[in-house]
Amino acid sequence: METQAPKTLESERRILGAQHAVLGQLLETIRKVATSVLASPSTILELVEQIAKLRDFLEVHLRDEEAFLVPVLRGLGAWGELRLQCLQEEHAHQRALMIVLSGDAARRAPEELARRTLVLCADLRADMELEQKELLGPAMIAEPLAARELPNA
Ligand SMILES: [Fe+2]
Ligand SMILES: [Fe+2]
Repeated sequence: METQAPKTLESERRILGAQHAVLGQLLETIRKVATSVLASPSTILELVEQIAKLRDFLEVHLRDEEAFLVPVLRGLGAWGELRLQCLQEEHAHQRALMIVLSGDAARRAPEELARRTLVLCADLRADMELEQKELLGPAMIAEPLAARELPNA
């Protein structure tokens, strides 16, 4: 029988980092597909498929990230509470955008769907890069209590 290694802060951080890498690849693919729709609207079906793929992967990622980061941030005082609030607002925003994008995929003009997708991709990429730097950086996980010494900005 296979036994699973216990989860640690470091292993969780690595899992989320790996998910960010996959998400980055998905975003790059979807960005190319959306750009090609602007040049040739007949490729819209591929974009609809990519949006569904992104929605499914993103939801798994958001849940995993919340499962890991919410308790960690709750233990880091005012600084953590502030970051937690930002995380929850950002995730709610991303989920809402994915619902709009997926729900409207069949109704929108191809060019409009492509433009909205490009905006979403840029937003997701920026948020992911910020998370990697501020929430999943080795310093924060290796020495989480150090964050308590940050000013409560
Ligand atoms: Fe996130
Ligand atoms: Fe993330």
